[in-house]
Amino acid sequence: MNRYINEQIRSFLEEDDMIAALANVSACINMNYDRLNWAGFYLVRKDELVLGPFQGKTACTRIPFDKGVCGKCYRDMETQLVDDVLSFPGHIACDSASRSELCVPVIAGGKVIAEIDLDSPFPSRFTEDEKTEMEKAAADIAAAYEQKGWIIE
Ligand code: SME
Repeated sequence: MNRYINEQIRSFLEEDDMIAALANVSACINMNYDRLNWAGFYLVRKDELVLGPFQGKTACTRIPFDKGVCGKCYRDMETQLVDDVLSFPGHIACDSASRSELCVPVIAGGKVIAEIDLDSPFPSRFTEDEKTEMEKAAADIAAAYEQKGWIIE
């Protein structure tokens, strides 16, 4: 468990511009967590998930709410910790090397407004402690979104 990752993320969320803040948050996660092949955001636009700031290889730009790990995270409004993406029905392989995934909803005003999505080429890469850290980060992002009047639509 990285004791300081949430403090670092909070410092990047002091920035008023949402894209600038989330770009540094994605870089911060990528620098603190080892064995990742993708770390970033999907933003909830009108009726689908749209790619946001990220670190890693090019990725799917749009994900329907009824597809993939990210779609399930949106529908259930709950973190998805997937130890083996190959056995997750409907998993979307943006990178065929991906083996495990952690997807955390950012919930503001009772709605999912974005998701933090992390991929690893190693099965069972993500721990319960990291799930807790990313859920704290999601709560901090939701607070910044509300305080700063960020708009995602
Ligand atoms: N694997 C995700 C798609 C996003 S990429 O991993 C960046 C999914 O199944 O929803």
